Amino acid sequence: MRLFVTGGAGFIGSHYVRTLLSGGFPGYEHADVTVLDKLTYAGNRANLPADHPRLRFVAGDVCDRALLLDLLPGHDAVVHFAAESHVDRSLADASPFVRTNVGGTQTLLDACVASRVQRVVHISTDEVYGSIAEGAWTEEWPLLPNSPYAASKAAADLVARSYWRSHRLDVSITRCSNNYGPYQHPEKLIPRFVTRLLRGRPVPLYGDGGNVREWLHVADHCRAVHLVLTRGRAGEIYNVGQGNERTNRQMTDALVRLCGADPGLVRTVPDRKGHDLRYALDDTKIREELGYAPAVPFERGLAEVVDWYRENTGWWESARDAAESAVRLTPAGV
Ligand code: NAD
Ligand code: DAU
Repeated sequence: MRLFVTGGAGFIGSHYVRTLLSGGFPGYEHADVTVLDKLTYAGNRANLPADHPRLRFVAGDVCDRALLLDLLPGHDAVVHFAAESHVDRSLADASPFVRTNVGGTQTLLDACVASRVQRVVHISTDEVYGSIAEGAWTEEWPLLPNSPYAASKAAADLVARSYWRSHRLDVSITRCSNNYGPYQHPEKLIPRFVTRLLRGRPVPLYGDGGNVREWLHVADHCRAVHLVLTRGRAGEIYNVGQGNERTNRQMTDALVRLCGADPGLVRTVPDRKGHDLRYALDDTKIREELGYAPAVPFERGLAEVVDWYRENTGWWESARDAAESAVRLTPAGV
């Protein structure tokens, strides 16, 4: 078995690859893995083993058709994580989002057809549905993305589905809720707040802190991705969640407590443009059809993740500085 993983040096993709290489997916203990990752600001080669007999790492772009046609033949399946993933950056400059998330997905799928790859899983997001005040989205919900990031992911989903309908490419799509876990870039809420609180620095809570997100440990997301890869049906979409809804204020209070920080470090700042109020998924389909059951209890998972950032300062210090200076993600005075 040969797997091709795009974006495998990022947060979720690297968790998937590390799990695969450490034998965490039964039946895949001998699988060979090719990782293709552009190593943007979000990718880190150190998220993967430096040297592993079953890992081949290629620094390259999913928009590079010639490279894909060179690399893909002989692979049995592709798991496509690579994307520009941060909403705030898409508000500052949407062009890399459209290029990579839409153009990169189309180029990859085209190369999969040409290379006769048998199976593809496209990693999408719950943000394609927009924002939901009450209830939860099923997979049949209309797409109504609000940020340029979410719009680029929604476009990619439609491109993926079209490759199934038109070319009979065996592709399934996952739409997951907000992930948390180790190795997440410190531009995102949880690592950003934890790495600041641990240093006694203020944290910027957008708006009134009443926006709601549904949180899932990255290990559970990766288990779901692998289930879809091995048992998911072609052309189908699978929502992935756990039902752990928290307002950002509740999440911030929990992080302040877990970091042993001063609650006075929390600063409310002007809201994100077009800030989605609430995300909530109905993931009955993947539970009933594929037997998905998240395994990491939220309170324990969150505490362990805070401990991980406390113990791995070397990992996040350089990424943090680069992130905050690059696009002025931190408001003045925070
Ligand atoms: P990330 O930003 O941590 O990692 C993205 C990776 O893709 C990086 O390693 C980056 O170098 C690579 N990349 C970017 N552009 C590339 C290109 N043109 N060619 C090759 N590689 C490129 O993102 P993440 O949080 O790990 O998200 C992974 C996937 O999961 C994305 O598709 C995202 O939309 C989706 N997702 C994320 C979450 C979440 O909460 N983080 C939730 C649901 C879905
Ligand atoms: O729902 C899945 C999505 O979750 C993924 O598709 C995205 O790739 C991922 O980045 C994430 O998007 P969010 O915008 O929900 O995540 P983020 O961590 O940026 O923000 C979470 C919430 O916290 C959101 O309501 C905005 C708020 N926030 C975020 C940051 C970075 C703050 O209040 N302050 C901050 O500094």
